[in-house]
Amino acid sequence: MDRADTPERGKGAHVLVDAAVWAPSAHDTRPWWFDTEGETVTLHADTDRRLDVADPQGREMLIGCGAALFTLRLAVRRLGRRLDVRMAPDPDRPGLIADVTPGPPQPATDEERRMYDQIKRRRTHRGGFRAGALPVGLLQALRAHACAEHVSLRIVADPRVRIALAALSEAAEQVQQMDPAYVAEVARWAPAPGGERLDGVHEPGCPRDPDHIDPDFAGRDFARGQGWGLVGGERREATGVVVLLTTTGDGRADWIRAGEALQRVLLRAAEDDVSAAFHTQVLEVPELREFLRTRFCDGTYPQMIMRLGVAQEEFDGVRSPTADVADGDL
Ligand SMILES: Cc1cc2nc3c(=O)[nH]c(=O)nc-3n(C[C@H](O)[C@H](O)[C@H](O)COP(=O)(O)O)c2cc1C
Repeated sequence: MDRADTPERGKGAHVLVDAAVWAPSAHDTRPWWFDTEGETVTLHADTDRRLDVADPQGREMLIGCGAALFTLRLAVRRLGRRLDVRMAPDPDRPGLIADVTPGPPQPATDEERRMYDQIKRRRTHRGGFRAGALPVGLLQALRAHACAEHVSLRIVADPRVRIALAALSEAAEQVQQMDPAYVAEVARWAPAPGGERLDGVHEPGCPRDPDHIDPDFAGRDFARGQGWGLVGGERREATGVVVLLTTTGDGRADWIRAGEALQRVLLRAAEDDVSAAFHTQVLEVPELREFLRTRFCDGTYPQMIMRLGVAQEEFDGVRSPTADVADGDL
């Protein structure tokens, strides 16, 4: 497949893919590609972009693809068309995720329009949040959005559990830093400033010295040893609201679903200027993930751990445009 040869794009599918590529993904690996036939967009996982060390099963890769799938779905609705999604489990083609086809006309709801407007605005945050609680109504709405995707959003209200989760994130970070292959993998996805890479985590999104919040969740150390990262201004110290996304199963379909729920929650939160800081190291160390599952998730499978809050602008990431990721008659 030569993506440079992508034919000129037609309008509908073009709009769908252009929206989907703004989905979040681990280390901004953008682990997807799309092909099109008529109005149908087929989403594939790009397994060459999986994090082999941190994510050997491809769980996080499929969460990213699920987030792209939800974005495709929303973009179809924003076009004012009904949604036809065919999930495509094919043992011979494990990268195939889904076919998404716009159906007959059906106007988008106000809620869908508002959420769509957040797709390019939403950014991952790395650092502390402004002090102050989030509205209960928003948290209830986020829970309902996750639930609509058959995923649970658990709000960690007990301060002891928050402290324990923060400690687990720090433990995971230290364990991972002891593995040179892990450190090299993070460095590979944290390109030096001024280069030509579009994907990967870039300097504007990363503080050079992490904020110290209480309880202190370990940040992913993208700037390690590279001498880059933003030097912050005024520091705010609130942890924000700690939430987990969990599923009852732990297979391919659950991971995709978790990604769909993730993007749905993030876009709804962004409407209220609430962003997410992710702390997924603990989910990449199998023993710690299992501990989290049995102790704090009632046996359900944790797929995402993040803090939600209102961010300081300077540590909100930026996203570069995406390279061409579509084949077919767009
Ligand atoms: C499965 C998954 C895991 C992630 N883990 C982390 C993490 O541990 N630390 C972090 O800072 N960001 C994490 N992120 C956020 C990505 O780095 C971010 O989505 C990507 O850099 C693109 O930036 P954007 O979200 O601002 O568009 C994760 C995202 C996903 C989907």
